[in-house]
Amino acid sequence: MVRGPCSLVRVSATPVAALAVALVSSLSRCSLLEPEDGVVSALSPYFGTKTRYEDANPGLLPDPEAPRRDPELLEETCTPVQLVALIRHGTRYPTTKQIRKLRQLHGLLQARGAEDGRSSAAGRGDLGAALADWPLWYADWMDGQLVEKGRQDMRQLALRLASLFPALFSRENYGRLQLVTSSKHRCVDSGAAFLQGLWQHYHPGLPPPDVADMECGPPRINDKLMRFFDHCEKFLSQVERNATALYHVEAFKTGPEMQNILKKVADILQVPVDNLNADLIQVAFFTCSFDLAIKGVKSPWCDVFDIDDAKVLEYLNDLKQYWKRGYGYTINSRSSCTLFQDIFQHLDKAVKQKQCSQPISSPVILQFGHAETLLPLLSLMGYFKDKEPLTAYNYKEQMHRKFRSGHIVPYASNLIFVLYHCKNAKTPKEEFRVQMLLNEKVLPLAHSQETVSLYEDLKNHYKDILQSCRTGEECELPKVNTSDEL
Ligand SMILES: *[C@@H]1O[C@H](CO)[C@@H](O)[C@H](O)[C@H]1NC(C)=O
Ligand SMILES: *[C@@H]1O[C@H](CO)[C@@H](O)[C@H](O)[C@H]1NC(C)=O
Repeated sequence: MVRGPCSLVRVSATPVAALAVALVSSLSRCSLLEPEDGVVSALSPYFGTKTRYEDANPGLLPDPEAPRRDPELLEETCTPVQLVALIRHGTRYPTTKQIRKLRQLHGLLQARGAEDGRSSAAGRGDLGAALADWPLWYADWMDGQLVEKGRQDMRQLALRLASLFPALFSRENYGRLQLVTSSKHRCVDSGAAFLQGLWQHYHPGLPPPDVADMECGPPRINDKLMRFFDHCEKFLSQVERNATALYHVEAFKTGPEMQNILKKVADILQVPVDNLNADLIQVAFFTCSFDLAIKGVKSPWCDVFDIDDAKVLEYLNDLKQYWKRGYGYTINSRSSCTLFQDIFQHLDKAVKQKQCSQPISSPVILQFGHAETLLPLLSLMGYFKDKEPLTAYNYKEQMHRKFRSGHIVPYASNLIFVLYHCKNAKTPKEEFRVQMLLNEKVLPLAHSQETVSLYEDLKNHYKDILQSCRTGEECELPKVNTSDEL
């Protein structure tokens, strides 16, 4: 078989299929082979924040550009007035930090190969050798940037949303789109790719212009909004720069579940267990997910793990998100107050404009950020909260937890607020209603479990946050009275 990016995908290939593999150069075509692969799809549900959008949303696999209408979405008497979407960037490269760890692991395997070079004929068939030979194609410059698959994630999301809300994404509204993004390359590029998807929607078949030349202009960068966590002093000192804040993550890394995997992997790879640690194991697992998400290939790194290992490694990933972005500390979610307020200010303004029969100034607001942008906001709003905290010691009890980042914030995940204007047939009363969608599925409201809420009821439910959550105050460090000690 030709040694190309597809050649290591394990398929029960007929000669014709093998020829086809050799012929297609497009990487996206390669991924057509992937669903046949049992191991990859068995591990895919456990990739946490490195999960592909289509794995969290399998309905998309047959046709990712077809509109996907949740049956709970409102229609008939209600017209959508405004859409506020928070969108995580699409599929990305590993960060430089992850690439360096991977290189370290690769080095370990190659050193091993050199040592038993004399008996290498016997070792040829083993997984360690296959991994030592597997090309390490990640380079430092890639550092977390958006990949082509990530652009495709965004274009396809744009096409689906535009078909789902044709009145909001009308050609006429295009010039009024409001785009805000985090300053990170992967987010700016995601915004641009989303715009290109919209262009494709309006002008099928025509190549999109450069984003800078588009009517609505390039996305506006606003890190205070989209990377609020970098700007919140209390979060930085209590969590981000606090060596003990992620205690449970560190404890789980050295706990019995991880130790079992370490021993098993050391045995499979035939390297001393002392040379491995939880971080290296985690990066090996991520590499399986990166090779799949970025290239659509199954890397031999996937063969190192079984489903039980994957569940443990998923928990390790979720533990970190829980303590750093979720319910672990109050400040994690409170740091997102500005974003929460911003969303409701947009909705308030649209309600006022509609009530005064004015045109809606911003019918579509698109905000591009990170998993770290979405998780705190969802926590602030009370979603995916388990009765017990996730700790280093309750892995088994948390097997059926709600807080599973792979389901909540895969690549290209999106949280969308849709404001509707409704006319009630029986009474002449006009009403405003809101629905929330997470990853294009209606998210029942945290307070009622209903799929739709009167806007007033929603605001009433969140009135404490709306009234008292001000990032300026929330993020202020407690005043230390140093004179006490004197
Ligand atoms: C760091 O985290 C620990 C554990 O939550 C906490 O007790 C401590 O007060 C934090 N330190 C700072 C400076 O906030
Ligand atoms: C700081 O502590 C001193 C001594 O206990 C007290 O007199 C002073 O009022 C305190 N200052 C503030 C700002 O709380």
